[in-house]
Amino acid sequence: MSKLIINANRPLGKISRFIYGHFSEHLGRCVYNGLYAGEGSAIPNVNGIRSDVTDALRKIKIPALRWPGGCFADEYHWKDGIGEKSKRKKMINTHWGGVTEDNSFGTHEFMELCSQLGCEPYVNGNLGSGGVAEMSEWVEYISCSGGSPMAELRAENGRSEAWGLKFFGVGNENWGCGGNMTAERYADEYRRYQTYLRDYGANRLYKVACGANGGDYRWTKVMMEKCAPMMDGLSLHYYTVCGDWQNKGGAVNFNEEEYYRTLKKALFIGELIENHSRIMDFYDPERRIGLLVDEWGTWHDVEPGTNPGFLYQQNTMRDALAAAVTLNIFNGHCGRISMANLAQTVNVLQAVILTEGEKMLLTPTYHVFDLFKRHQDATLLESYVETKLIGGVNPVPNLHVSASKGETGSICITLANLSCSEDSLVDAHIAGPAIKKITARHICEKPRSHNSFINPNAVRIKDNAGVKITRDGFSFTAPACSVFEIVIN
Ligand code: AHR
Repeated sequence: MSKLIINANRPLGKISRFIYGHFSEHLGRCVYNGLYAGEGSAIPNVNGIRSDVTDALRKIKIPALRWPGGCFADEYHWKDGIGEKSKRKKMINTHWGGVTEDNSFGTHEFMELCSQLGCEPYVNGNLGSGGVAEMSEWVEYISCSGGSPMAELRAENGRSEAWGLKFFGVGNENWGCGGNMTAERYADEYRRYQTYLRDYGANRLYKVACGANGGDYRWTKVMMEKCAPMMDGLSLHYYTVCGDWQNKGGAVNFNEEEYYRTLKKALFIGELIENHSRIMDFYDPERRIGLLVDEWGTWHDVEPGTNPGFLYQQNTMRDALAAAVTLNIFNGHCGRISMANLAQTVNVLQAVILTEGEKMLLTPTYHVFDLFKRHQDATLLESYVETKLIGGVNPVPNLHVSASKGETGSICITLANLSCSEDSLVDAHIAGPAIKKITARHICEKPRSHNSFINPNAVRIKDNAGVKITRDGFSFTAPACSVFEIVIN
């Protein structure tokens, strides 16, 4: 029996809804054939955007979408993606499969997508191969309401009203695919580029500087030292790779050792956040600058027979558990984390949605975002779960939890049982108001279970009637390899 304690009398800060953000790059079938079918498509769409995909993303309350990359962002020239589609300049997507990019999905289409999703756009500019004027003009094009050359160009392209823009990334992975810069070089470039990103009218940009690759703490230190007053956010990228970058390991074919190794590596994000936050705290004790984990997720070998440059992978309960512990960790660090973006929304890496022609399925990771959606903009509560270490040579906690209180006073607890074989009996004590009503939903299957186009509902959310109210809380059994949402009123 494991004790779970939720202290409803101890609020620990607001969990930004943007922690539940997503990322979509011009990569493989994420944008084309994923989010965007094109206006002439037989697949049901609104202005070219797939309706089944937008419906599903709205259900998990997608709060923000980052675009157009990724590595693609530092090769992307936004003016190639506006105006009459047949006249748009083509390019080769050299990072991702060497395919021809026809630029039919550009700024107008992305803003339309965000408007259909009801989410905040997060645009990532090109610092690696683009110019200062080019980046500056993109912001003007999107956010200046009128009387400027870019506002006039936008109007000529059919949109007189400015869209408005909050989140803007100044380059991506500039220590790697975004120009192979040193921290010092990028810091100087950041200072210059951000100078010309203007606030038009009432629009206020939230400028995000490129941050570290995993545990590169020196990068964070240099950025904070040189640029802190000029940025609103600093990014961090971390991918969970079971093996190494040459042999990452299969998305579905893994053994028990690899299962726990993956979860251990997913949990490592907690250590990264703590260490980067400590450096940020030194330069920014008020925590004005947000840490944006704007790329995270599991990265496995591509599915056999698919283009290696398309990063298409299946998604199992192992991925769902990796997502659950990561989101619990983000909640726990909501004082510093202002946004996080899972890589990548559809058909790429740890996607929440997979498509095949007109067919679409929801992955186990999608269901985790569904189970966690109540945390968005809620208040983090102190929580503790008594647990043991499992996993042998890859020790991970058996149980993992976070809890929050919503605006209406309801408490949401998300708990994962990481064991691939043992159920856990949980005895919860709530310090706070007496429980009037309790509901629970969960996913629970074998570690390798996944949804396929033959069996799209192998993993799905089920109501759990086994949660019982006790004298000072509740008790329930968390089966092996499960993720729970428990809501108390
Ligand atoms: O998400 C795939 C790639 O991973 C992104 O393009 C890049 O930023 C990162 O290395």
